[in-house]
Amino acid sequence: MVRFAVILGSVRPASVGAPVAQWVARKASTVEGVQADVITLAELGLPFFAEPVPPSLAAPTDPAGAAWNERLAAYDGVVIVTPEYDHSVPGVLKNAIDFLRPGVLAYKPVGLVGYSYYNGIRPLEHLRDILSGFDVSFVNPEVLLSLRADFTEGAFTPAAYHEDEVPAMVRAMVARSQALASLR
Ligand SMILES: Cc1cc2nc3c(=O)[nH]c(=O)nc-3n(C[C@H](O)[C@H](O)[C@H](O)COP(=O)(O)O)c2cc1C
Repeated sequence: MVRFAVILGSVRPASVGAPVAQWVARKASTVEGVQADVITLAELGLPFFAEPVPPSLAAPTDPAGAAWNERLAAYDGVVIVTPEYDHSVPGVLKNAIDFLRPGVLAYKPVGLVGYSYYNGIRPLEHLRDILSGFDVSFVNPEVLLSLRADFTEGAFTPAAYHEDEVPAMVRAMVARSQALASLR
């Protein structure tokens, strides 16, 4: 069994991303041998990052930060589902990433799902930069959702062409995970 975490990058109680993350996990779990769990940043209870040293040098002293690292380390890869805030990722998502020790994600596949009025492309591009020091392996199939075309009066109603996108992305993640297993 390959286990992937689906991380939602918004903590707004009325986040339109909540049903998106559930949809991603459900679709991911249709791929044979895959288990996908949603992790919302809100449930982690992370403070603003204020550690004495960077996580690349030592594990976070904050208990929530330490627990976040341990929790993610148990997964074989992650799918990040993020909205676009001010042409980038939400600060809460960047803050959660700041807490991570690089080894937690090293040689693991990362899939990306973005949503905004402009298909969430910009936060995904920024995530590729932000995670560039983590030795992650991004897969190329991405899921780009439009607040105009894939939502109806706030409800998530993905267009038909998105139907197989998550399974395609997750199949690529499984292959990458297997290929990189000897490096982890
Ligand atoms: C602080 C903030 C900044 C935003 N900036 C952008 C933006 O740059 N581009 C965009 O298309 N939408 C932007 N939006 C709209 C969000 O994409 C939209 O509100 C979306 O529902 C937010 O995701 P969430 O509901 O999961 O928090 C912004 C929203 C917020 C709250």
